[in-house]
Amino acid sequence: MSDIEFDPNVKGRILDVLADLNDVELESIETWFCSRAYKKELDQKRSLDASNEILKKIGDTIKDLVPFEAEMASETIAPPTIGEQADCNAINTLHVDEFLYDEDEVAELAKKGKIKRHYCLDCSSRNIKDLTFISHSMSKEELLYIFKVLLPKDLEDKQLLDVGSRLGTVLFGAYYLSNLRSIIGIEMNKELCKVQEKVIEQFSMDNNRIKVMHSDVMNKGDIVANSNIVVINILDFFVDNQKHRDMWYFFKKHMKKGSYLVTNRSMRDTLDDLEIYHDFANWLNICRINQMENEIFCHVEDYSNLYLYIIN
Ligand SMILES: C[S@@+](CC[C@H](N)C(=O)[O-])C[C@H]1O[C@@H](n2cnc3c(N)ncnc32)[C@H](O)[C@@H]1O
Repeated sequence: MSDIEFDPNVKGRILDVLADLNDVELESIETWFCSRAYKKELDQKRSLDASNEILKKIGDTIKDLVPFEAEMASETIAPPTIGEQADCNAINTLHVDEFLYDEDEVAELAKKGKIKRHYCLDCSSRNIKDLTFISHSMSKEELLYIFKVLLPKDLEDKQLLDVGSRLGTVLFGAYYLSNLRSIIGIEMNKELCKVQEKVIEQFSMDNNRIKVMHSDVMNKGDIVANSNIVVINILDFFVDNQKHRDMWYFFKKHMKKGSYLVTNRSMRDTLDDLEIYHDFANWLNICRINQMENEIFCHVEDYSNLYLYIIN
């Protein structure tokens, strides 16, 4: 019998984890605990959990401001005609916003019958197929990866621009997970700008640090040129192929040397699909992860869709 006593439930949970480890791993854990180095990492983990809790509250607030599918009546959203999502259509695709609904919530919604996971191929039988789920927003986990793993830690004198800030998820992630000086969202849909502004007000965010602008980003070359980090989530559902090409030439013209570009699909794939890669081959370079020490807070392999580039 051990002479160190504490809550048997806690002890049981810890033993469950330790039971999966081999002798070498156990020894490393003993050293880690005895050195007390874990305390600092535990503080960081708790601080990240607290930020995530605020983002969750923001998500719950947004749910009351937008329709369930988080697509506004004033928007024109059409599946792309090129690239890997060109097979999406109204029958086989469902938009479930990943910032608003995490995996557990989606499972709960499916259990309650509020969303379906499958569609029927011939209307009469068990011949069904999985629906394709798409999200127009980044998830909370992706935001954590971007700000705590991918980008450099110290962004105190830097400005971030989110192109097409939609529900504001990237802006809110930047606000609570980084020390960025200035966080700007440009969104062409007015209703969505109002949603973002309401959240900024409701959560008493500092208007000197975070702002939303209602505009086509192509009218804001000066803001692009003054930004150190530009985030561009996949735009295919929102612009036609010609506009999409024009936007990349616009970013190439305005983004400054040394600034970062964050995307959730490789630039090679995006530009190849648009058949313009040849004009961009020397424009940017892919970057390595900046905050390797924080990999312990994420399952890094889950974020292979997120890319960080530096402009040459
Ligand atoms: C995929 S959503 C990105 C949402 C958000 N950035 C995120 O990652 O969670 C793309 C958004 O870009 C907006 N958008 C597309 N083209 C734009 C343009 N030229 N100027 C401003 N906004 C644009 C769309 O209205 C849409 O809300």
